[in-house]
Amino acid sequence: MNKNIAVIRGDGIGPEIVEQALKVLNKISELYGHTFNYTDADMGGCAIDKHGDPLPESELKKCLDSDSVLLGAVGGDKWNNVPGHMRPEKGLLRLRAGMGVYSNNRPAKIWPQLASASPLKKSIVDKGIDFIIVRELIGGIYFGEHKTVEENGQKNAIDILAYNEEEIERIGRIGFETARKRGKKLCSVEKSNVLDSSRLWKAVMHKLAEEYTDVELSDMLVDNCAMQIVKNPAQFDVVVTENMFGDILSDEASMITGSIGMIPSSSLGKTTCGLYEPIHGSAPDIAGKDIANPIGTILSAAMMLRFSFDMPEEADCIENAVSKLLDDGYRTADIMPSDEKEAAKCKKIGCTECGELILERMAK
Ligand code: IPM
Ligand code: MG
Repeated sequence: MNKNIAVIRGDGIGPEIVEQALKVLNKISELYGHTFNYTDADMGGCAIDKHGDPLPESELKKCLDSDSVLLGAVGGDKWNNVPGHMRPEKGLLRLRAGMGVYSNNRPAKIWPQLASASPLKKSIVDKGIDFIIVRELIGGIYFGEHKTVEENGQKNAIDILAYNEEEIERIGRIGFETARKRGKKLCSVEKSNVLDSSRLWKAVMHKLAEEYTDVELSDMLVDNCAMQIVKNPAQFDVVVTENMFGDILSDEASMITGSIGMIPSSSLGKTTCGLYEPIHGSAPDIAGKDIANPIGTILSAAMMLRFSFDMPEEADCIENAVSKLLDDGYRTADIMPSDEKEAAKCKKIGCTECGELILERMAK
């Protein structure tokens, strides 16, 4: 197959982790006889520096014209003082909205090899951690009106959180469909004891539940969910939630699996043109040092193959190679066990080396 991939390297560690993912994709094309054509697109801080805009129209167009987009990470201290609408993150939000990718899928799955890297007690980890957070991605407070006004001699900052029924229904369906293909348990997370938008959320989920009678729907308040994720993560199969709750809970969920550096994500809308990115940020403090973990990005590329290109075998090939790498004891700094004895059994590797060692383990 011939596929066009828009590649956004972004800022901080973005370029180095994306480089490793491209090597992996090239190896897939070699092994399986596909052709991947890459088009570089600028987004984030580097786009501000180059074009004076975190996502110029020309760059968005490259993404919309592609079969899918692979993204590293954007942002950094350098652009902290630019006005809100010009921040690197605004480029990312405009990209997600421009592509219409309302459904963000963030798996929280513990790799058995990394169980000791989890900050949770062994007795909790041993019960298993394998769930997916389905996060609404282009609505809610991220996309409501933002403004700061002067009132009675002081500044008043306003961010609006709004959801309509249609926006909730379409992400709700993804939640139910995802659960249907897994353990058939869907937990809808909201704050219906306080927020109107959450009360509507809950009502729409329950209406949908009448159609998905094979899936068991439960409700959970977001504060309780934050607690349950560390107390008993084994209870979750699929969690569906709004944009900001999903942002926060997915960081928490990733951490209990060992490291945020391991977690990929897919974002899809009405078409198969998806946006694939690791869930971590641009980590400017370690940028250029060749110590970042590229696995979140490499696994994002695998998700692209699976969900947008219908190449499940190729995706398995990448995931198996990552698993073998971990079996062989190789660890980037973020996933080195904290226990000295455990650490002594592992070999610490950098970003490029991690990419190379995964390539060596890829076979048809
Ligand atoms: C994420 C990130 C982004 C978000 C930022 C960089 C805008 O934290 O993908 O989780 O909040 O969605
Ligand atoms: Mg986040």
